[in-house]
Amino acid sequence: MTEAVLLVGGKGTRLRPLTLTTPKPMVPAAGVPFLAHQLARARAAGVRHVVLATSYLAEVFEPYFGDGSAHGLRLTYVTEDEPLGTGGAIRGAADALEAGPADPVLVFNGDILTGLDIRALLARHERARADVTLHLTRVADPRAFGLVPTDADGRVLAFTEKPRRPEEIVTDQINAGAYVFRREVVGSIPAGRPVSVERETFPGLLAGGALLHGVVDASYWLDLGRPAAFVRASADLVRGVIGSPALPGEPGEYLLLPGAHVEDGARLHGGTVVGAGAYVAAGADVEGSVLLDGARIGQGARVRAAMVGRGARVGPRTVLDGAVVGDRAEVGADNELRDGARVWCGTAIPDAAIRFSAV
Ligand code: GDD
Ligand code: MG
Repeated sequence: MTEAVLLVGGKGTRLRPLTLTTPKPMVPAAGVPFLAHQLARARAAGVRHVVLATSYLAEVFEPYFGDGSAHGLRLTYVTEDEPLGTGGAIRGAADALEAGPADPVLVFNGDILTGLDIRALLARHERARADVTLHLTRVADPRAFGLVPTDADGRVLAFTEKPRRPEEIVTDQINAGAYVFRREVVGSIPAGRPVSVERETFPGLLAGGALLHGVVDASYWLDLGRPAAFVRASADLVRGVIGSPALPGEPGEYLLLPGAHVEDGARLHGGTVVGAGAYVAAGADVEGSVLLDGARIGQGARVRAAMVGRGARVGPRTVLDGAVVGDRAEVGADNELRDGARVWCGTAIPDAAIRFSAV
């Protein structure tokens, strides 16, 4: 049986205000909590038991996902009272795995949407006889990630998490957040204290001569840590740019959840999702955006690459482009919010108050 640990305990700071009351993996992407897509994709790859390593807002996962049977797999929840970092979480969660000591341990960051072939990663791990095998991807700007240069055989030469100095940027290959560990390696992570697998475990293993193997893969990959990426992932799931067995509908230009109401003359496109009970008025144009349950978009509003929280209101003719509107916030008419502007939950912005600005 294939098992995996899914790291879902992060605070999701960069997705605030949406993550103030909802942990990042539970924020809806393409109509369901993002985690549902990850679980569905893992299941499709043969994973049958997942240990969810929770910490921040840990209590919200189980009521939704239960024992996992509705998703075709078995779920075990392991909760850190104090966040133990990625390494501490892996160490704690591994005790809940059922496979034997000779079986490898699959680990996934909980905020990655990827077309990675998980079976192929396992096969590469076996073939390389590695201590840890890492999925790597290439990005234009690697500074926000773990840098992982490899030699011609895929042997990892260094691991530099979020480099600060320009001379540390020696590659565009980054840690893509999926690993296969030898079980003993997991056992060697110190228990009961915070450990960063990226800052402590991987550099320590390399210094000790361990074999870390990198598999560079060019398939779809996105870290959903920032609002722009989250919205993009949702839109790509809706349009079927990346497939997900958990998509609640057929791929297309938009997805309407039950109880969504869209007036004639409104335009939805670019993978927009309109949540349950949400409303879009006539003349509004909503492109590549996520409207959560009960959100309301006014007449003639233009919404692009934006997230609109539960029960939030966007006034007539208002422009949102790359903005995040928190739950129950009210943005009056004729405002213009762009490029990472965030409106805090429950905030009210008067008519014509803001142009081109972050809130
Ligand atoms: N259980 C638990 N406890 N989970 C945690 C904790 C913790 O203390 N801290 C973080 N996590 C989870 C997060 O929920 C997320 O799923 C994953 O670990 C990675 O944390 P992020 O906060 O998203 O890290 P990042 O995006 O800045 O960097 C990581 O991902 C990059 C790829 O997206 C690193 O692994 C980088 O090396 C990597 O390049
Ligand atoms: Mg991340």
